[in-house]
Amino acid sequence: VPKLHLESSDKVTNSDKYRLLSDAAPDELKNLAKQVNASPWRQHYHIQPTTGLLNDPNGFVYYNGQYHLFYQWHPFGPVHGMKYWYHVTSTDLIHWKDEGIGIEPGGQYDSHGAYSGSALAKEGKLYLFYTGNTRDEEWVRHPYQCLAVLDKQGHITKQEVPVIDAPPPGYTAHFRDPKVWKAADRYYAVLGAQRLNQTGCVLIYRSDDLLTWSFIGELETSLADFGYMWECPDYFELGEKGVLLFCPQGLSAEEDRFENIHQAGFLIGEPINPEKPHFQHGSFMELDRGFDFYAAQTTLSPEGKRILIGWMGLPDTTYPTDAHGWAHCLTLPRELTIQDGRLLQRPVKELELLRKEKYTAAHTVQDAKIELEEINGSSYELICELCMEDAEKAGIAFRVGDTEETLLYYDAVSKYLVLDRTRSGAAMKSENGNIRRYAFDAKKIKLRLFVDQSSVEIFINDGEAVMTARLFPAKDSNGVTFFTEGGKATFDAVQWLYS
Ligand code: FRU
Repeated sequence: VPKLHLESSDKVTNSDKYRLLSDAAPDELKNLAKQVNASPWRQHYHIQPTTGLLNDPNGFVYYNGQYHLFYQWHPFGPVHGMKYWYHVTSTDLIHWKDEGIGIEPGGQYDSHGAYSGSALAKEGKLYLFYTGNTRDEEWVRHPYQCLAVLDKQGHITKQEVPVIDAPPPGYTAHFRDPKVWKAADRYYAVLGAQRLNQTGCVLIYRSDDLLTWSFIGELETSLADFGYMWECPDYFELGEKGVLLFCPQGLSAEEDRFENIHQAGFLIGEPINPEKPHFQHGSFMELDRGFDFYAAQTTLSPEGKRILIGWMGLPDTTYPTDAHGWAHCLTLPRELTIQDGRLLQRPVKELELLRKEKYTAAHTVQDAKIELEEINGSSYELICELCMEDAEKAGIAFRVGDTEETLLYYDAVSKYLVLDRTRSGAAMKSENGNIRRYAFDAKKIKLRLFVDQSSVEIFINDGEAVMTARLFPAKDSNGVTFFTEGGKATFDAVQWLYS
């Protein structure tokens, strides 16, 4: 039986999960925040919840001179329960200002949460589309696609009735996460859906005014039976191509691919005509080759760059911060481009704003482990060109302590870049393994790591691949070492940039 997260028939325990902020006991959130702030794994430069659980990025948009970003938020603890949209803004994608609650659930059409969605500006206002999640007395799910409007004064008002009040015939109640865009003076939306035969797909809607929406049809792809549900779709054009992002649930692992509990990936193809929704595309590729990545959403910068932010977490997974009353953060923003038919993801240029101190070096290492005193810490950027000579293995160990280390190395024998968090610190559940491998054949590998208190994001060869991981090391596991086995390698053009 496929496992759909957020599914439960246990109404009794769920009643606690579906409380609103207005139901909070006096000082409940304040006390929870105290516990959360004492967590050693609070991040320094990632968006994270003040209390409770964060999941998908929502409503990511540049509007009225700044970026607006929302995220799925359950305030009361590290569980998937009543979801709010929490609102943050930024002018540089790096420093974010708290704007408080964006969308509050609890109405007739979102009684059990304001689920994921997107934003689009029109005539000076920001239209926020989201899925109102409701449950009836039998705990049967009824999804509604809802609208809230952010006006010029910064107030968000929910529209009374949904814009789409039921899934179309042929699809189940797993129908959510509208992503809206404009093309040729019309508006379109992709939605994640499930066919009655329990396979996932994307549906397309159209609107002339953002208020009235009609169903066009299913986006035809060559993936007729590819997981039991597709969540969080996003469609956009990039260069000459059309790109569809989505999160298929229920795929089985295939060697080094699809090893996480659920996948987040993309298809590249010919731009679609949404009026005749057929997508001619290449094979499904993962957006991230690490552990903790899901539900990514993109927007356009004012200069026309396509920027992506993801949830650095996964559904149906527990994390060591749960014990401290919070869970998850968002990823750093990445700029997407297509080069020679491949999707590249690079950290946005603005991340250089985090740099404070700089140390540079170059080292050739032969069958040894060298520790660099100047390079260490729990929050930094590390750049390095790994030049393989005759070493069988060569790489970087970071967040190193007496008994802890996280390993990133190239294995020249099996031709894999390997990220190993087996000994990173507090244990993650191991059903999905704590090693990720990315196959490629190269003598020179450009690495760019962003390490924060409890995470790493590794950009490989200028955005050819990214590996993201949450890590839960002890506070003083701050060492960095370069190592090789079975021969020699050079760690060239090393830059360490404290943030
Ligand atoms: C993806 C998701 C979405 C849903 C939201 C609820 O993580 O399941 O499909 O809208 O989370 O929080």
